[in-house]
Amino acid sequence: MSSVTFDAASRTYVLHTPSTCYVLGLDDGDVPVCLHWGPELTVEQAVTLPREQAPPASSFDGRGAGEELVTEAGARFDPPSLQIAFPDGVRGVDWRHLGHTIDGGGLTVRFRDALHPFEVDLHYRVHPDSDAVERWTTLRTEVPVTVLRCDSAAWSVPALPGYRLSHAVGGWSAENGLRRVELAVGETVLTSRRGLSSHHANPWLMLDGGDATEKHGEVWSGALAWSGSWRVTVTRTPSGRATWTGGAGHEGLTWRMEPGEEWTTPVFAGVYAPDGFGGASRRWHEHVARHVLPVPDEPRPVLYNAWEAVGFEVAEDNQKELAALAARVGAELFVMDDAWFGGRTSDRAGLGDWWPNPARFPRGLTPLIDEVHRLGMRFGLWVEPEMVNPDSDLYRAHPDWVLHMPGRPRTLLRNQLVLNLARQDVADWAHTWLHKLVSEHAIDFLKWDCNRAFTEAGWPGGPDQDRLWIKHVRSVYSIMDRLRADHPHLRIEACAGGGGRTDLGIMSRTDQVWTSDNTDAHDRIAIQRGFSQIYPARAMAAWVTDSPNPLTRRRTPLAFRFHVAMAGALGLGGNLLEWSSAELDEAAALVAVYKDIRPVVQFGSQHRLDYGVQHTLGDRVVVLAWRGPVAHGAPLVPLRLHALDPLGRYRDEDTGRVHHGAVLMSSGFTPDLPRGDYASALVRLRKENP
Ligand code: DGJ
Repeated sequence: MSSVTFDAASRTYVLHTPSTCYVLGLDDGDVPVCLHWGPELTVEQAVTLPREQAPPASSFDGRGAGEELVTEAGARFDPPSLQIAFPDGVRGVDWRHLGHTIDGGGLTVRFRDALHPFEVDLHYRVHPDSDAVERWTTLRTEVPVTVLRCDSAAWSVPALPGYRLSHAVGGWSAENGLRRVELAVGETVLTSRRGLSSHHANPWLMLDGGDATEKHGEVWSGALAWSGSWRVTVTRTPSGRATWTGGAGHEGLTWRMEPGEEWTTPVFAGVYAPDGFGGASRRWHEHVARHVLPVPDEPRPVLYNAWEAVGFEVAEDNQKELAALAARVGAELFVMDDAWFGGRTSDRAGLGDWWPNPARFPRGLTPLIDEVHRLGMRFGLWVEPEMVNPDSDLYRAHPDWVLHMPGRPRTLLRNQLVLNLARQDVADWAHTWLHKLVSEHAIDFLKWDCNRAFTEAGWPGGPDQDRLWIKHVRSVYSIMDRLRADHPHLRIEACAGGGGRTDLGIMSRTDQVWTSDNTDAHDRIAIQRGFSQIYPARAMAAWVTDSPNPLTRRRTPLAFRFHVAMAGALGLGGNLLEWSSAELDEAAALVAVYKDIRPVVQFGSQHRLDYGVQHTLGDRVVVLAWRGPVAHGAPLVPLRLHALDPLGRYRDEDTGRVHHGAVLMSSGFTPDLPRGDYASALVRLRKENP
C-alpha cells in the first residue's frame, strides 16, 4: 500500500510506501522540513514528530538541517538547493505556503516567494509496489530571474552517532567502483561536469551509520534520474547532522527564466531500507523494474555484438559469417557495431554520415538484415547520433552545429566533436535520420553510443548558453521517446563508451545499459557489483569475449567468463571466427543453461554473496560463484544463502542433491569449484513440494 495524507491541524504530510514512511511538515515560517524518513509510522504518530528548530547556537550559526529544499534566504549556511537571483538584487526564496494537491500517490506542495511573483512546487510520488519516494521541483516566475542552482530535492537522514557514505567512482573501462568511506565533516561533492552522468561518478549515494552490512542495518539512499552533468553535495555538519542536496547541472552554470516560464527538474528518488545494503539494492531493483524501465517484463535477448571481433573492419561478409556462428551458439539478437556507415573506417572519419558505407554494403543493409532474420535472430545496429567527426560531410556542411566557443579551439576527443542537440534544427536532423533508418530497415534494436565528454560547451548566438547542458539531454530523451512511440517493437541499449551514461534517466527510455567496455570477467565482478547497488540485473548487459581479454590480456576459462556474464543480460562479443568447434559447443551449452536460468536472473531478487550472487524467483534459486586467483590453502568459505524457506528442501537440478533451506542459510554450502585460477560454478536449486 502507498498513500499520502495531510493533517491540517499540524500541517503535516505523511507519505507511506509499502514498508517505509516519509513525513514532511511546515514550520511556523512555512518552511518545508523533513520530519521523518524511515520505518512505518501511523499518521497519529507522525503528527507528534518534533519540529521545533533549536535556536541558533550563536550569532554565527543558522537554522538546523532538515529543509526539503535549502534556499539562500535568511540564516542558512548549508549548500543551497535553490539559488535564485531576482532582478531587484534579492537572492533566495522566502517560503509562503500556497496549498497542495494530493492525487493518488502524488503530492504537490505549492509555495511562493514572500516578495516576488515566483512559485516553487515540491513534488512527491509514492507507489503501491515500490519503497522509493520520488521527488522533483517545479519553478514558475512572472519576473525575469537567474537560476544559479535548482536541485531536484534535498534529503535528510536522522541524527546518527556516525555516518558512512557509499558511492561509485571510476573511469572508462573501470565503472562503478564501489566506495564506502566515513562521511567527512564538511561537504563532499559527487559530480559530473562531462555532459554525461559519467564513468567517473554515478548519480547515486547511500548513507548509513557505519554499521550496516549487506544484510543488516539502516540505509538511506538516493538516485538521480539524469543523464547529463549533475551534482550532489553531501553535508555532515560539525553538530552531527547529515543531508544531501542534488540535481542536474554542475557548479557555475546559470539559467535565465523569463516571465511566464516554468522549469522542472529531473526526479531524485530516495529509498530507506532497514535491512542493509542488500535490502536497499533490492528495493531499487524493484523500483527500476516497476517504474523506470519501459518494458521491464520482456526477457532480454542473448545478443551477439561484433565490435571486439572486427573493430572498424566491418563488412557484409564478415558480419554474415559471424551471424551464422552467433546463431549456432544460441544468440537471439545480432548487433552490428560501429563503422557500417559513411566513410567510417576508423575513428577519424565518417561520424555524422548515416548511410551505409557503399564499399562495405554495396546493396545496403537489407541483405545482412534479411540474413540475420533468416537465422532466427533479431537485428540491432550501432548509432552515435550526438557526435560528428570533422572529417565528415555533415561537419563540412554544418560546422556551426557543434558545441563551440568563438575563438577557442574545438577540442577533439576520440577525433570527434559534440553536436549541439540543444539546437532544434540539430535535434530534428538526428530524429529524422534515425526515424528514417528504422522505418526503412527491419531494425529491432539500436545501440545508442556517445563517446566523448563535452568541452567548449558554447552555443554562439544561442539563447541562454548554459541551457544547452540541460536541453541537449532533454533532446536525447525526446528523440528516444519519439522513436519508441513510432516503432513500438524497437529496443534501445544505452552506451557511452561503456557505462558512461548509466542512470535512472536513460533507463526510463532504454532497455539495457552497456555496462563497460571492459569485458575482462575478473574486472567485471567489481564493475557489476557496483552496478548492482542500484540497477537491476536485467538492465546490465554483459558479454562473454575472448581470452586473453583484448583490453587486459588476462586469460580466463570460458566457463568463468560465462558465469560472470550470466549474472546480467548475457551477450557474446568474442571473435567467434577464432573459437574452436569445442569452444563453440561449450558456449552453446552455456547459452542454453542461461536461457533456462534467465527468468530467475532477470526477474528474480538478487542477494550479493561473498564471492558470487544468488538470484531467487518463486521456487527456483540460482547461485553463480566466482573466484579469482587464490593462494594455495586459502579457505573457501561456504556460501550462505538468503531468503529461502527454512523448512523447504531444495534439490540441486544438476546433481540431484537435496539441501534444507535452513542449512543453506545457516551453514551454507561450498560450491564445487574446479582447481586453478578463475574457478566458477553455477548451481540451480529448485524447491521441492512438501
Ligand atoms: C564504445 C562502445 O562502448 C563499444 O562497445 C563500441 O560500440 C565502440 N564505442 C564503437 O566505437
